[in-house]
Amino acid sequence: MADAHRTGLDRAGLAVCLLAGVAVATTLGVVGAQQGQPRLLPVWWFTSMQSMKAWLSSAVLLMIVAQVLTASWMYGRLPLVRRAPAWVGPIHRVNGVLAFLLSLPVAYYCVYAFGFDTLTPRTTLHSVAGCVFYGAFASKMIGLRMARLPGWLIPVLGGTLFTAFVVAWYLSSWWWFQLVGYGR
Ligand code: HEM
Repeated sequence: MADAHRTGLDRAGLAVCLLAGVAVATTLGVVGAQQGQPRLLPVWWFTSMQSMKAWLSSAVLLMIVAQVLTASWMYGRLPLVRRAPAWVGPIHRVNGVLAFLLSLPVAYYCVYAFGFDTLTPRTTLHSVAGCVFYGAFASKMIGLRMARLPGWLIPVLGGTLFTAFVVAWYLSSWWWFQLVGYGR
């Protein structure tokens, strides 16, 4: 307690931030687990729900890679380039919002059409990674708006959401592309 006062660390804020993420991830998992038989939802120009989601999430993956690069630049971690110019922050924010919005139809289709699937290790791990991704995203958004949180928090949450997305993408989009090819 005395330590928290000395460092000015907001322990309650840290707990709120992390618990909010756990709540989001758990809610997604529980809602997904209620889903029974797979449901057919519209696929528009695509030929299946899987290929629609595989292409949308691959676009999101590219945007998330750009997020990691711009974040590393802002933290001065990119080799060869020095200080990030002022426009990098706004680019990071706008690209982040767009990536999140583009990921929503994928997650909606996953949760409402397929649900939290524990039939195979691949689908189980995919479902867990998808839930962790949105949990880490929620914690990060809350953490960004709080003062006096530990300096490692945002990079750790950013790294967690990136890793969770790559795992979810690899076990779904990559798996799908290997199975049926790169058609629409
Ligand atoms: C990061 C967010 C997510 C991405 C990018 C993503 C991406 C995808 C893609 C591309 C597919 C189609 C390929 C396939 O059938 O495997 C898919 C299927 C699926 N997703 Fe997700 N998903 C996400 C989140 C979730 C969440 C939160 C859940 C569960 C709560 C979930 C459960 C499933 C299930 C059960 C399937 C069907 C797997 C199968 O039977 O082949 N996904 N996902």
